[in-house]
Amino acid sequence: MATNMIMIPFCFLLMLLSPALSQRCNPQDKKVLLQIKKDFNNPYLLASWNPDTDCCDWYTVTCDTKTHRVNSLVILSSVPNTNLSGHIPPSVGDLPYLENLEFHKLSNLTGPVQPTIAKLARLKTLTISWTNVSGPVPAFLAQLKNLSFLDLSFNSLSGTIPPSLYQLPNLLSLRLDRNRLTGPIPASFGSFRSNPDLYLSHNQLSGTIPTSLKNLNSNRIDLSRNKFEGDASVLFGPNKTTQIVDLSRNSFAFDLSKVQFPRSLISLDLNHNKIYGSIPAGLTAVDFLQGFNVSYNRLCGQIPVGGRLQSFGADSYFHNKCLCGSPLPSCN
Ligand SMILES: *[C@@H]1O[C@H](CO)[C@@H](O)[C@H](O)[C@H]1NC(C)=O
Ligand SMILES: *[C@@H]1O[C@H](CO)[C@@H](O)[C@H](O)[C@H]1NC(C)=O
Ligand SMILES: *[C@@H]1O[C@H](CO)[C@@H](O)[C@H](O)[C@H]1NC(C)=O
Ligand SMILES: *[C@@H]1O[C@H](CO)[C@@H](O)[C@H](O)[C@H]1NC(C)=O
Ligand SMILES: *[C@@H]1O[C@H](CO)[C@@H](O)[C@H](O)[C@H]1NC(C)=O
Ligand SMILES: *[C@@H]1O[C@H](CO)[C@@H](O)[C@H](O)[C@H]1NC(C)=O
Repeated sequence: MATNMIMIPFCFLLMLLSPALSQRCNPQDKKVLLQIKKDFNNPYLLASWNPDTDCCDWYTVTCDTKTHRVNSLVILSSVPNTNLSGHIPPSVGDLPYLENLEFHKLSNLTGPVQPTIAKLARLKTLTISWTNVSGPVPAFLAQLKNLSFLDLSFNSLSGTIPPSLYQLPNLLSLRLDRNRLTGPIPASFGSFRSNPDLYLSHNQLSGTIPTSLKNLNSNRIDLSRNKFEGDASVLFGPNKTTQIVDLSRNSFAFDLSKVQFPRSLISLDLNHNKIYGSIPAGLTAVDFLQGFNVSYNRLCGQIPVGGRLQSFGADSYFHNKCLCGSPLPSCN
C-alpha cells in the first residue's frame, strides 16, 4: 500500500521527465531519421519528426510491431508546396531493417538513385516515382534479392536498362515507364524466374524484342510509346497466361496472321505500328477480350467473325491498309 503510493507518482514523474524511456523507437534508427531530415534541410513535410517524440509515431514512418525497428519510410507530398528538395541523402542506407522505401510526387527531389540503397538488403518494395531523380537505373538494384516491387516510373532517368535486373528472383513488377531510357530490352529478361509485370512505356527504348522473351510469361507488358521495331510475336504464344499487352506507338513490323495469341488475353493494344498481314481467326477464341486496338497499322483482309471481335467499334480497326468486314465496311 505504502509502496504503491510512492511508486505510482514516481513512475509518472519519470515518464514526464524522460519520454525516451517510454519510446519504442530504436535510438540508432531515430538518429538516422533525424540525419535524413537534416540532409533535406528540415523540410516542412518532415515537421512531425520531432526529436522529443517516439519516431515510430512520426508521419510516414512505420516500425516493426515486435522489434520496433523502422521497416517502412514513405516520403510523399500530400500538399502542393512541400519544400522538400535536394538529393536522396546517403543516410537512407543506414536503416537496415527497411522493407519499404518510397519517395513519391516530389518534383524538387533531384540527383541519382542514391547508391547507399544497395545496403538495404531487406527491401521488398522500392518506389521512386514522380520526382526529378536522374542518372541511370543502377545495376546495384540487382543485389536486393528480396525486391518484389521496383517502381522507378515518372522520373528523369536516362541510359540503358541494366541486364542484371533479371537476377531479382522475387520481382513481381518492374516499372521504369515515363523516363528517358534508351537502348534495347536486355536479352537476359528472358531468364526472369518470377515473370514480373513489365512497364517500360514512354521512354526512348529501341531495337528488336530479344527472342529469349519467348520464355517470359508476364501478366502485363506495356512497351507503348517507345521506338521498338521488328517482330514482337515472341511476347505471345499459345502456352502463355499473359493478360494485358500494350505495344502501341512503336515501329513494330511483323505478320499478325502468324501470331498465336494466348486465350488469357484481356487487352491488346497494337495501335500506331507497322504491323501487316491479317487478323488471325484464333483471336475469336479469346473469350475475355475486353480491350482491342489494331488501328493505324498495315493490316489487310477480312476481320474474322466471332468471339469478341465485333464487340469493338470501328476505331479499334480504322486506318489500316485494307481491313474490311464488321465493324468496318464490308469487303464487297
Ligand atoms: C522549408 O521550410 C522550413 C520552414 O519554413 C524552413 O525552416 C526550411 O529551411 C525550408 N527548407 C528548405 C529546403 O527550403
Ligand atoms: C520546388 O522549388 C521551387 C523553387 O525553390 C519552388 O518554387 C516550388 O514551390 C518547389 N516545389 C515543391 C513541390 O515544393
Ligand atoms: C521537375 O519535374 C517537373 C515535372 O514533373 C518539371 O516541371 C520541373 O521543371 C522539374 N524541375 C527540375 C528542377 O528539374
Ligand atoms: C528475404 O525475405 C525472406 C522471407 O521474408 C526472409 O526470410 C529473408 O531473411 C529476407 N532476406 C533478407 C536479406 O532480409
Ligand atoms: C505448348 O504446349 C504444348 C503442350 O505442352 C506443346 O506441345 C507445344 O509445343 C507448346 N507450344 C509452344 C509454342 O511452346
Ligand atoms: C484506338 O487507337 C486509336 C489511336 O490512338 C484511337 O484513335 C482510338 O480511339 C482507339 N480505339 C479504342 C477503342 O480505344
